Amino acid sequence: MLNTTQNNRVMVASLQEDSSGASATDLSWPAWWSLPPVEKARRLAEVLKVEDPRAPEVWPPSWPRGCEVMSTKDLGAKPGLQSPEGQARLLHDLGNIELQAMELAVRTLAEYPDAPQDFRSELMSVAIEESQHFLLCVNRLVELGFHWGFRPVHQALWEAVGEQSLLERVMLVHRHMEATGLDAGASILNRLTGLRQPPAREIVERIVRDEVGHVQFGSRWFRRLALASGQDPDACFAELFPNMLRRVPRTEKPKLELRAQAGFNDFELRVIDEVWSATNFKIPRTN
Ligand SMILES: [Fe+2]
Ligand SMILES: [Fe+2]
Repeated sequence: MLNTTQNNRVMVASLQEDSSGASATDLSWPAWWSLPPVEKARRLAEVLKVEDPRAPEVWPPSWPRGCEVMSTKDLGAKPGLQSPEGQARLLHDLGNIELQAMELAVRTLAEYPDAPQDFRSELMSVAIEESQHFLLCVNRLVELGFHWGFRPVHQALWEAVGEQSLLERVMLVHRHMEATGLDAGASILNRLTGLRQPPAREIVERIVRDEVGHVQFGSRWFRRLALASGQDPDACFAELFPNMLRRVPRTEKPKLELRAQAGFNDFELRVIDEVWSATNFKIPRTN
């Protein structure tokens, strides 16, 4: 069973031995985007340092997801978590989030080549962790007798991101989408409590633990980037947050304790609470 970072390193190392033989030096970033998801994650997990993640030649995405792609509202019923299929569904859905998180991290590296070097190397570590999360989900799926692609997926996270400043990108991806992922992860863990040895549990625990670090990365760099451009970080947050919530609406109540652990200050927590409470998610978005 894999339940520690150290064990996960062992798993990644064994994947290296099993993979197609391509090494980090063979990695061509434009070609990387068109690899099947599992191969893409394996290759990224092998790379400890990337100097030049160039933007892909094909843009916007037309690479294989290895699954039928649907909008989130067409994805259909979700079986209960007590059945093996329900656990597999959960792992597949989580894997899809991790896959997009990995791709979004690399996309930011490609689109902001002039970002501070420390930012880039920290983000590369995030991308590698996302690839490990994806592989954990896929491996456990296989152990359960399922495979990546047995369900359709959405690419809503990827599509929510557009042309924006680096400050806005950090806010959207790491302080909104990844932060709402923390809320969702905590809820999933609650739903798994009481089930006997649910196969997804240790993976969800590992992901939630690592994701706190990803959101902390976003909180830290949001402040640094705002200050570097002469802006007040709190004022930026208060201005951007309503827009982010409209762009990627999340109806689940934010878990403020988890947000605090992930680097949100008291002012930001008040903004989140007030804006979320005042938002009527039933009114359709106009943009
Ligand atoms: Fe992740
Ligand atoms: Fe993440």
